[in-house]
Amino acid sequence: MTDVDLEIHLTDADLAAGLREDARRGLTASPKWLPPKYFYDARGSELFEEITRLPEYYPTRAEREILAERAGAVARITGAKTLIELGSGSSEKTRLLLDALREHGTLGSFTPLDVSGAALRHALADLRREYPDLHLHGIVADFVRHLEVLPEAGTRLVAFLGGTIGNFTPAERAPFLAALRARLATGEFLLLGADLVKDPAVLVPAYDDAAGVTAEFNRNVLHVLNRELDADFDPDAFAHVAVWDAEHEWIEMRLRALAPMTVRLRALDLEITFADGEELRTEVSAKFRREGLAAELAAAGFAVRDWWTDEGARFSVTLAAAV
Ligand code: AVJ
Repeated sequence: MTDVDLEIHLTDADLAAGLREDARRGLTASPKWLPPKYFYDARGSELFEEITRLPEYYPTRAEREILAERAGAVARITGAKTLIELGSGSSEKTRLLLDALREHGTLGSFTPLDVSGAALRHALADLRREYPDLHLHGIVADFVRHLEVLPEAGTRLVAFLGGTIGNFTPAERAPFLAALRARLATGEFLLLGADLVKDPAVLVPAYDDAAGVTAEFNRNVLHVLNRELDADFDPDAFAHVAVWDAEHEWIEMRLRALAPMTVRLRALDLEITFADGEELRTEVSAKFRREGLAAELAAAGFAVRDWWTDEGARFSVTLAAAV
């Protein structure tokens, strides 16, 4: 692997401490919950990549369709010199933006930011080969806690893609968007991918696929707890549940105990019990409407410059300027 420029604000020890704190808080709460960021160990990241290829999981394809069509416009409108990607993972769709910005002639550097140093090293090594003259600078950080580390150079475009904004509750979105706005200068840009409210007959299967990949992805968080916290969850003793919450307009993923259970988390010196049928919430994936998203962006100090959807109006990409 070629040497890559990586700035680390979040160590494995920080991640481990965060997991301990979140697991203790969430698993002793009623109802029980866990933050979705712990799905993504090596196996979870692979399962997520598999999800993006499932026939039922439309968001990735819909967003790629939008970016393929609109990347040129994004480059023209923003004239960005620096592209920053929050929660970049494999940076797969980002190549559409990189190519358009390179062609436009303005782009000098790309800064992917992710909690996974391993994923970043991997992505950066590939990008180094594909874009030999682009300045690549990875940041290992948590975009909820470390926005102050965004690089200062040039007109910046911050991409937050994939619909990951949906993992925040509305109460978490407002401070996140405001903090992001505060890090940008007036006239810099945010490109935001957000999934849209639609028929639950389309939404629910996207989170409960016939092949059972999402069920495995959901249960994977229990494997993570077993390994990282010396716990003894039996993942097969939990059913995968995906429900559409029409009031909050979000999909909720849960794990439902198929029998009464006691689980030990030795690293936390904690014992928890599940009643028969008790559910553990593992993810919220909020869905959006155009007006609501524009209002949230405006409240944070962004003005919508463009709003695009795929042909089927399933998914949206918003280009917003800091005002
Ligand atoms: C990566 C957060 C956008 O919410 O659709 C996919 C994660 N969860 N299937 C989403 C996910 C279940 C995904 N995000």
